[in-house]
Amino acid sequence: MPLSRMSTVSSLVALLGFTGSALAAQTAELQATEQLYNQHCSVCHGTQRIGGAGPALLPESLGRLKKPEASKAISEGRPASQMAAYKDILSPAEIDSMVDFLYTPIDNPPAWTDSDTSASHRLLVDTSTLADTPQHNADPLNLFVVVEAGTHHVTILDGDTFESVARFQSHFALHGGPKFSPDGRYVYFASRDGWVSKYDLHNLTMIAETRVGLNTRNLAVSNNGRWVLAGNYLPGTLVLLNADDLSLVKSMDTIGSDGTASRVSAVYTAPPRDSFVVALKDTNEAWELSYAGTPDFVPRRIIAQDALDDFSFTPDYRYLLATSRKAKGGQVIDLDSGKSITDIPLPGMPHLGSGIYWKRGGDWVFATPNISQGLISVLDLKTWQLIKEIPTEGPGFFMRSHANSKYAWTDVFFGPNQEVVHLIDKQTLEIAHTLRPMPGKNAAHVEFTNDGSHLILSVWDTEGALIVYDAKTLKEVKRIPMNKPSGKYNVGNKIEFAEGTSH
Ligand code: HEC
Repeated sequence: MPLSRMSTVSSLVALLGFTGSALAAQTAELQATEQLYNQHCSVCHGTQRIGGAGPALLPESLGRLKKPEASKAISEGRPASQMAAYKDILSPAEIDSMVDFLYTPIDNPPAWTDSDTSASHRLLVDTSTLADTPQHNADPLNLFVVVEAGTHHVTILDGDTFESVARFQSHFALHGGPKFSPDGRYVYFASRDGWVSKYDLHNLTMIAETRVGLNTRNLAVSNNGRWVLAGNYLPGTLVLLNADDLSLVKSMDTIGSDGTASRVSAVYTAPPRDSFVVALKDTNEAWELSYAGTPDFVPRRIIAQDALDDFSFTPDYRYLLATSRKAKGGQVIDLDSGKSITDIPLPGMPHLGSGIYWKRGGDWVFATPNISQGLISVLDLKTWQLIKEIPTEGPGFFMRSHANSKYAWTDVFFGPNQEVVHLIDKQTLEIAHTLRPMPGKNAAHVEFTNDGSHLILSVWDTEGALIVYDAKTLKEVKRIPMNKPSGKYNVGNKIEFAEGTSH
């Protein structure tokens, strides 16, 4: 028996604390389950569960999938996919042990090396044959890239007519939001299982793809369009790619100065600083990697008071607002001096990555939803004071606005009132309107058109929709049925790093 399989068995046994004959029975059951996995599942999900034609089935990959949902996927299969139903092949008890097995960490985590990354790299077209101008009639700066989470597809939507310009299959479970080249021609995607892909919005074709890891958080594109940086949970690495063809430049193990190996929570580009900023999950550091001039990509280590899960920036990218469990909320880090300058009271587990800023009177304010409490926290970006906590009908996840809109839109993503969206008046900081776009269904992420005249809202349901609103009259303009549309990204808003959208 290979070592890794032995160790999975022994770690589960240790975890459960079995002794004597109970232990023997448990070990035998797990071994039988591994055999069933190898017999029925590994052909698609990979030996060591690292994925193949089907997604990776490691605990890191299954984080968002609840055990009963995994059980349902195995017994009933998934419609319109290669995942067949196993209820006539495996007994209910076998399915139960299969689920336990899939959620058991592998003691010797499978490796993903630079040679694996390079071997996975594929150029899908001869780029010299591609036109340099848009081969469609839509305004290239008002296209939306729409992620359809339910079907693992992407739709490219014309932001003037709200008609589809293209639709294609993506890798399983896109993660962390697509990012654009500075001119808006290319869009880069990262998938949960580590695939980075590059799509040409002029020619409406996929250009290249590379697998950079086994479990990836997100990616960022440098403001000069030359580099793509991806951050991984598994293995804990940063992977730098050439933005032209997605070939590997180098990978870096994310190890803190105290020697702690860390997962990467998120990577961002900070355009005015010509750098990438990286949040590390398991060590008290944020990294800045300059891409100015001829970069060596040696990280500048910024020591924080706490591990940073999630963060956002001030409009000038001078300061980082980061979540911190120790500070019971957030801390502010000056990226120039590398020092934490103050704590901010944000008790409700803020989702800072979705926070947005706008001008209120003459001053910048920053607002963020909170994942554990139904309130929007609003901060003054000069004094770092909490100006207001706006109660909502439940904890939210996303927040969006536009310089031309009076309102900041926020969802109630968690809890019984998922169908609700609130429109917050950006000057009075009061809820001005509460909408129920599709009663009973989860209303979520919003994104504005480039001119801010309209916005598109996702109803996150297998029988969901994109709903287009007039941003002033709040009248519904169009409804496009869609299976779990998640994020939508307006090319112009994203490449301008426009106020009101997250980066
Ligand atoms: C012929 C290929 C194939 C085989 C064999 C296969 N699967 Fe799958 N499986 C898939 C694909 C493809 C998906 C993704 C389906 C989708 O689009 O939701 C999937 C999805 C899943 C998921 C849901 C993962 C998630 O994150 O949503 C689980 C759990 C799963 N498979 C378990 C199994 C188990 C256990 C077996 C063996 C008993 C098995 N699969 C056999 C192809 C396969």
